[in-house]
Amino acid sequence: MTNSDQFPRHITGQRVVVLDFGSQYTQLIARRIRESRVFSEILPYNAPASKVLYGDVRGIIFSGGPSNISSEDALLPDSEILEAGIPILGICYGMQLLSSHFGGQIGRASRREYGSAQLSILSHDGIFKGIPGDGGRETKVWMSHGDRVESLGPELKAIAETGNSPHAAIKHIDRPIFGVQFHPEVAHTREGKRVLDNFLFEICKCEPSWTAESFIEREIAECRRLIGDGKVVCATSGGVDSTVVAALLSRAIGDNLVAIFVDNGLLRQDEAKEVAQILRDGLGINLIVVSARERFLSSLRGVSDPQEKRKIIGNLFIELFEESANPLKDCEYLAQGTLYPDVIESVSVKGPSALIKGHHNVWGLPERMKLKLIEPLRELFKDEVRLIGRELGIPDRLIMRQPFPGPGLAVRIIGPIAPPQLEVLRNADAIVREEIERAGLADSLWQWFAVLLPVKSVGVMGDERTYENAVAIRVVESLDAMTADWARLPYDVLATISSRIINEVDGVNRVVYDISTKPPSTIEWE
Ligand code: XMP
Repeated sequence: MTNSDQFPRHITGQRVVVLDFGSQYTQLIARRIRESRVFSEILPYNAPASKVLYGDVRGIIFSGGPSNISSEDALLPDSEILEAGIPILGICYGMQLLSSHFGGQIGRASRREYGSAQLSILSHDGIFKGIPGDGGRETKVWMSHGDRVESLGPELKAIAETGNSPHAAIKHIDRPIFGVQFHPEVAHTREGKRVLDNFLFEICKCEPSWTAESFIEREIAECRRLIGDGKVVCATSGGVDSTVVAALLSRAIGDNLVAIFVDNGLLRQDEAKEVAQILRDGLGINLIVVSARERFLSSLRGVSDPQEKRKIIGNLFIELFEESANPLKDCEYLAQGTLYPDVIESVSVKGPSALIKGHHNVWGLPERMKLKLIEPLRELFKDEVRLIGRELGIPDRLIMRQPFPGPGLAVRIIGPIAPPQLEVLRNADAIVREEIERAGLADSLWQWFAVLLPVKSVGVMGDERTYENAVAIRVVESLDAMTADWARLPYDVLATISSRIINEVDGVNRVVYDISTKPPSTIEWE
């Protein structure tokens, strides 16, 4: 729950470690394990045995990875881990590593195997217990490899094959060590979840005890133990992460948590009111609302450069946060909604050294304000934060909220910002949100919003010529905002959005739909 040098902490319960050899699927493996209610932890492939083997470690998974086990610079784990007697499952590169370790030969496959393959199972026990479910021998799996295991050492035996790999899955003859050439973590492997579950429950003897309830209970006890009678301050934006942090701490320490919400005047329609209502009335959080519309708008007057807008908003936010937090007596801690993907030590594929992603310390606030950092969500993936939020009684409309940028509508009004433009954009944006929700599309989309363009065009309303602004509609699908595609919205939804905006929002006579992908475009216009 607290700063990085103490992480991982309280992992006193059962855990499965995923050693990351640089696979694009490492996080997916960890998430699949957690979906089976077992706590998983990602560590770099070269983590020392002491960091892997402590406590109640039930199993270890070696991920795939781009390196070549036969090459001189092959990535290898601490050898103690292989000899510790803890169950191991090697996936793709992880299996080649195990084969090589036990004296097998690895060579280039005659052709690179990428995509679906039929796996013939030779031994329907261990990780293949009950697979395939129909009692046959074959099941569809997803492959992605260039090397393959040519021969096995005397301690290993093949437990499955494909047309291209005689050793598509292996096991050790008397130790709980398994390897699969395919990727059980991806959805294209039909029985992948059962393979992983067999490893977790049959081999590692894990119990499915990692649940939202157990997390909340443990975290509350841990917060109380650590914070005692101290005070914690946190910034809430109404986004899911900061709301879950505030709700959790509020349950743990009551009014010794002070949540600060800055209304910067750049929020969407009714947002400030709604957030305050949910946090204060609904969740009983001790909330200070800082109304600072005028200060933000006057600082932004005449500014059109997007980075300049961001800088002004960011600096002013810090100023206001400090002004509100400093008078709070005995405040020792700052809580922040850092998530697991921000703190995983990721493997640099280009070199053997492990990189540590800088986790975003909110603008250096803890150092400036001499506060200790508390990060109750730093072990969680986003979908787990949502589950925990639900369990804490946070309403779905907040939990499933689309991402909204910190600088708010300031980066959705192209050019300088003034109250009349904000009013136009808010009204247009509210219609986009209403219609997307009405059409039941929100769950399949990443973001949906309106952008006010500094372009006027000619139109005709009734008998009159108009000369008014254009609004762009941006609706995207994405998994992580790194890439995005424009949503193929049904024409009738687009038609309703367009006609409602033009009819209901004064000052707009044209609506366009943004059909750019990211890259090369971005999701936001500024
Ligand atoms: P882009 O526009 O870079 O956006 O494709 C990727 C994701 O980040 C959000 N975004 C921001 N979030 N402060 C934020 O907190 C910002 O300055 C900012 N700019 C973009 C954007 O909404 C999208 O989800």
